[in-house]
Amino acid sequence: MEYKVALIPGDGIGPEIIDGAVKVLEKIGGIYGHDFRFTSYLAGGCAIDATGKPLPEETLEGCLASDSVMLGAVGGPKWDTLPGDIRPEKALLGLRKELGLYTNLRPAKIQPALADACVLRKDIAERGFDILIVRELTGGIYFGERGRRDKNGVEEAYDTEKYDVNEIERVARVAFESARKRRGKVTSIDKANVLETSRLWRETVHRIGEEYPDVELADMLVDNAAMQLVRDPSAFDVVVTSNMFGDILSDEASQVTGSIGLLASASLGATTRGMYEPIHGSAPDIAGTDKANPIATILSAAMMLRYSFDLGEEADCIERAVEKVLLDGWRTSDICEADRAGEAIGCREMTEKILEALGR
Ligand code: IPM
Ligand code: MN
Repeated sequence: MEYKVALIPGDGIGPEIIDGAVKVLEKIGGIYGHDFRFTSYLAGGCAIDATGKPLPEETLEGCLASDSVMLGAVGGPKWDTLPGDIRPEKALLGLRKELGLYTNLRPAKIQPALADACVLRKDIAERGFDILIVRELTGGIYFGERGRRDKNGVEEAYDTEKYDVNEIERVARVAFESARKRRGKVTSIDKANVLETSRLWRETVHRIGEEYPDVELADMLVDNAAMQLVRDPSAFDVVVTSNMFGDILSDEASQVTGSIGLLASASLGATTRGMYEPIHGSAPDIAGTDKANPIATILSAAMMLRYSFDLGEEADCIERAVEKVLLDGWRTSDICEADRAGEAIGCREMTEKILEALGR
């Protein structure tokens, strides 16, 4: 089979980690007989520099004409002072919206080899955890009305949290369907004690939940969830939440796994075309130094195979190779124990190790 993959390396460490994922996909293609056709496009800060726009039309058209999209990361201090609508992040939000990617799956799972890197107490880390965060991605405060205005001579800024029933229903369904394939539990996270959007969220999730009597549904307030995630992450299976709460909680969940450099994500909509990216950012401080951890991006490529191309066996193969390399003791600096810091390997070498493990 031939698959057209649009690549958006972006800024900072983006090009280095995308390079690792491409090598892994090429190798998997060779083993299983698939032909991945890659085309690179500009988005983010590099696109602003080259074209004046964070998301050039050519990039959007290229993504729409592809079977799937892989993105590295966008943003950096160079573009931090630009006005909101021409910031690099606008590219990411634009792609999510224009490609209709309303669900973001962010699995946070402890790698057995990295229980020691987990920041939690040993007994909690050893209990293990495997959480799937289902984040709403094209609504809420990220896309509500915002602006500045004058209020009796005082400058005021506002952002609006807004959800309609359809937006909540479709992401809730994804959560319930995912739970059915896992441990059968959904925790819906909101702030229903304060926010009206959360009350509609809660009502709607419960109504959809009635269609899934085999799935256990619990509600949790977001402040409590932030606490429970570090107190006992093993209590969660599928978590479903709004765009902003999902953004915040997924960073927290990632750090609990050991490093944000390990967590992959899949952004999905109504078609099989998804966008796959690590949950971390462009890490400008280490860009170009070969220090980035390519694992989150390589695992995102595995998610692409599974969710967009229905190549579950190939995806498993990549995930096993990553696990193997970690069990063999290879570490990039973000996951290296302090007393072994000198032994950390770089982005390129980590990619090489994973390629070798795939070959076996
Ligand atoms: C993420 C990022 C983005 C978000 C930023 C870069 C706009 O933090 O993918 O989690 O907030 O969604
Ligand atoms: Mn984030």
